[in-house]
Amino acid sequence: MKRGRVVNNDRPLDYYMREISDLVSTALASVLPEHWNVPSSLKEAMNYSLMAGGKRLRPLLVIAACEAGGGSREAALPVACAVEMVHTYSLVHDDLPAMDNDDFRRGKPTSHKVFGEAAAILAGDALLTHAFYSIIQTSRKHGIPAERVLSIVEDLAEYAGPRGMVGGQVADMEGEQGITSLEQLKYIHHHKTSDLIMFSLIAGGRIAGVTEEQLNALRTYGYNIGLAFQIQDDILDLTGDEAKLGKKTQSDVKQQKVTYPYFIGLEASKEEIERLTSEAKTVIADAGFVNPQRLFEIADFLKSRDH
Ligand code: IPE
Ligand code: IPE
Ligand code: MG
Ligand code: MG
Ligand code: MG
Repeated sequence: MKRGRVVNNDRPLDYYMREISDLVSTALASVLPEHWNVPSSLKEAMNYSLMAGGKRLRPLLVIAACEAGGGSREAALPVACAVEMVHTYSLVHDDLPAMDNDDFRRGKPTSHKVFGEAAAILAGDALLTHAFYSIIQTSRKHGIPAERVLSIVEDLAEYAGPRGMVGGQVADMEGEQGITSLEQLKYIHHHKTSDLIMFSLIAGGRIAGVTEEQLNALRTYGYNIGLAFQIQDDILDLTGDEAKLGKKTQSDVKQQKVTYPYFIGLEASKEEIERLTSEAKTVIADAGFVNPQRLFEIADFLKSRDH
C-alpha cells in the first residue's frame, strides 16, 4: 500500500476546518501578485466578496482529498484558492438582479449593492479568470507534474463551464418556468452545485497522485455530498435562520424555484440527504485511501449543517 505523510487526525473536525479556512483566507488575501497593476476598485470588489466570510467548503474538500491520498496541504493551496474564487464569482453573479436578485450574502450586502452592477459583474469575471492563474502555480511553485495540473485545468473548465456549473445555473433559471420531473431537478442540482464540489475532490486527488479508481471514488463521493449539500441548501432556504446563514431565507419561494422540499417534501428530502451521505462514505471506505478519516467526518458534518 502507498505510504502517505503523517497527518494528525486527533483534533476534532471543527479545529481542522478552522485551520484550513484560516490558511485559505490568508492565501486569498494576497492572491494577486503584488507587482501587478490592478485598478484598486477592482481589487476592493474582489476582496470584499472573497473575505466576506464564506464557509470555505470547497477549499476544505481540495485539501482533505489531497491529504486522504497522502499529498501535501501546501501543494493543494493554489487549487483550494482557485475553487473558492470560482465559487465566489458564481455567488456574486447568482445574486445579481438579473438572476436571483438577492441583497445579502455571507452576512453582508451583496456586491452589486455595494459597488454597483457593472463592478460586481467585472469582479466576478476577474475572480473566474484569476482562478486559472492560481491553478498553474501548483506546478510553478510546488513542483506538481505539469501533466497533472493540465488535467486539473481541463477539469475546472469542464466542471465550472457550459457542461458544469454554468449549465446548471442556466437550467435553474429556465426551471423557474416550471419543472416537470425530479430528473430535471437532479440535473440542476448536480450541475449548479455538485460539479464544483466534485472538481474540488478530484483536483485534491490529482495533486496527491491517487489511482484512477480512487479518483472515481472521489467523483462519486463528490456527486453524493454535493447533491445532499444543495438539498440541505433548499431546506435551509425554507427553515433556516437568516443570521446564521448570512443570506435571506425564502429566496427560492420568492423566485418560484422548484426545489427538493417543494417537489418531494421536507421529510423525504432529509431522508435523501441521509441516503446520499451514507453512500458517499461507503464508496470512500472501499477505495483504500491512506487517510480517509476527514472525508467521512465532513460528509457527516454537512448533513446536519445549519448554515
Ligand atoms: C452557496 O454555497 C451556494 C450553493 C451552491 C448552495 P455555500 O453554502 O458553500 O456558500 P458560502 O461559500 O459558505 O458562502
Ligand atoms: C447557487 O444556488 C448555485 C451557484 C451559485 C452556482 P442558489 O441560488 O440556491 O444559492 P444561494 O441559495 O443563493 O446561496
Ligand atoms: Mg441561484
Ligand atoms: Mg441564489
Ligand atoms: Mg439556495
